Amino acid sequence: MQEKNSKPQQLRSQEWFGGNDKMGFVHRSWMRNQGYPDDYFRGKPVIGICNTWSDLTPCNGHLREVAEQVKRGVIEAGGFPLEFPVMSLGETIMRPTTMLFRNLASMDTEESIRANPLDGIVLLTGCDKTTPSTIMGACSVDLPTIVVPGGPMLNGRFRGETIGSGSFNWMIKEKQTNEAFGADDMREAEICAARSIGHCNTMGTASTMAVMSEALGLTLPGIASIPAADSRKRVMQQLSGRRIVEMVREDLTMSKILTRQAFENAIVTNAAVGGSTNLIIHLTAIARRIGVDLVLDDFDRLGSGVPLLVNLMPSGKFLMEDFYYAGGLSVVMRELGDLLHGDAITANGQGLAENCRTATCYNRDVIRSRSEPLQDSAGIAVLRGNLCENGAVIKPSAATPRLMKHTGRAVVFESMEDYHARIDMPDLDIDADCVIVLKGVGPKGYPGMPEVGNVDLPHKLIQQGVKDMVRISDGRMSGTAYGTVVLHVSPESTVGGTLAVVQDGDLITLDVEARLLRLEITDEELARRKEAWVAPPPRATRGWVRVYLDHVEQAELGADLDILTGKSGSTVDRDLH
Ligand code: FES
Repeated sequence: MQEKNSKPQQLRSQEWFGGNDKMGFVHRSWMRNQGYPDDYFRGKPVIGICNTWSDLTPCNGHLREVAEQVKRGVIEAGGFPLEFPVMSLGETIMRPTTMLFRNLASMDTEESIRANPLDGIVLLTGCDKTTPSTIMGACSVDLPTIVVPGGPMLNGRFRGETIGSGSFNWMIKEKQTNEAFGADDMREAEICAARSIGHCNTMGTASTMAVMSEALGLTLPGIASIPAADSRKRVMQQLSGRRIVEMVREDLTMSKILTRQAFENAIVTNAAVGGSTNLIIHLTAIARRIGVDLVLDDFDRLGSGVPLLVNLMPSGKFLMEDFYYAGGLSVVMRELGDLLHGDAITANGQGLAENCRTATCYNRDVIRSRSEPLQDSAGIAVLRGNLCENGAVIKPSAATPRLMKHTGRAVVFESMEDYHARIDMPDLDIDADCVIVLKGVGPKGYPGMPEVGNVDLPHKLIQQGVKDMVRISDGRMSGTAYGTVVLHVSPESTVGGTLAVVQDGDLITLDVEARLLRLEITDEELARRKEAWVAPPPRATRGWVRVYLDHVEQAELGADLDILTGKSGSTVDRDLH
């Protein structure tokens, strides 16, 4: 039985299910053990629901229920939903860091989609890396695809105060030092910070990735900010299920949505919401998969003049639930107006501007107007100079204004282990004007480029009331973190970038306005040190980490594997036998 308006002759899934030969029998027969009627195999668009659920990814712990809601929508629209698991990445649990596995999860997603009889894809995402990994993998196949972000947790309250999941972590050392914050206090705060299903409720990386997905046009409009526990989220999940079936019929593939304009919209929107620096790495990797030319300087050129409109932690004071009640991302995009490409097509088939044409703001404390922004210019500044030959980044909205132009004496840590061993030594020669330099936390160095760039300040300086210092590393920073933190220094120290040869006592100049990061030594001295530098031995000889070390690219290229750039499409020209 054919569905109205369907094009069974064009459905990819019919290459598996449509034949009347032996292989048609094989492909259908085993699937039939799950009780599907015959018409499911005769021209219904087959929708793969790519699920990053895992008990070990608490932010995605509700996605099995989400999948059921999506299936409802798919069936209502005449599709055939088939859910499949892919590698899930739990940010707070996995060691040494989820970023070591983002590209592996993307390969899982890519190969799972291509190898199976799927016509359209729904990506169920949530925790930080589960969004970029699945989008990257799906891009390399390029079928019609819609993203369903799992949604943030509800607001947390701890002893009368709002507590943001993620951002509270960065206060613990200070509280333990200055407020006698004990084990009982800690346990009470733990559950207050995570009081419902969903991902981090700050504008951390997970929320940034949900916003990115919507700004790219990969979701239904309005979905990103809705809390996971809100019944309106369930409605959006069901509608996404209906819509992906239509997208298959319209052949609205990812590459038709992910144009250069879509990426520019994502950069501008990220600046306006005060999103994570992690966007740079993930968006670049996605662009390189789909074939859009995006470079590091685009983030500064397009984003740094954009006003900060959203008052959410870590740059501001509210949380995602408040953002939703204030009108959500549609209000922000309507405010941004001419800064966005309004005609960029989105998953519902309409342009971005049309989607937010009637958006209304209900709380100007949470979402500001362009005429009264929180900051005149937000975004991400891209730094250049002899300390970062291929670039480095800083998030000015999360930094301390007086430190944005600063020259200080370097206090160097050769690794995270070195940092932990010495940072709280009473005799460590460090003061508030020093620059903390952390090496060995880049893509190859750690390996996996962990979120450690915002290392805690020394205990003795916290006791003196010091709140922030300039910190520089080749690592990343959690989207929930803040401070005057220079990140993504490239080339990283492990491959012999200038960072590798910084020594204790060197002077370093940071000048964000001039976009400068400079090691104050002569060119001759720098050349002499590099000549004497010896590369460290690789940290793995086998398995995935070995593949990763052999192929991972530097931060400014998105830290993807060089063998994964681009796409291979959806064609598989050989059958089982
Ligand atoms: Fe999962 Fe923050 S830890 S989203």
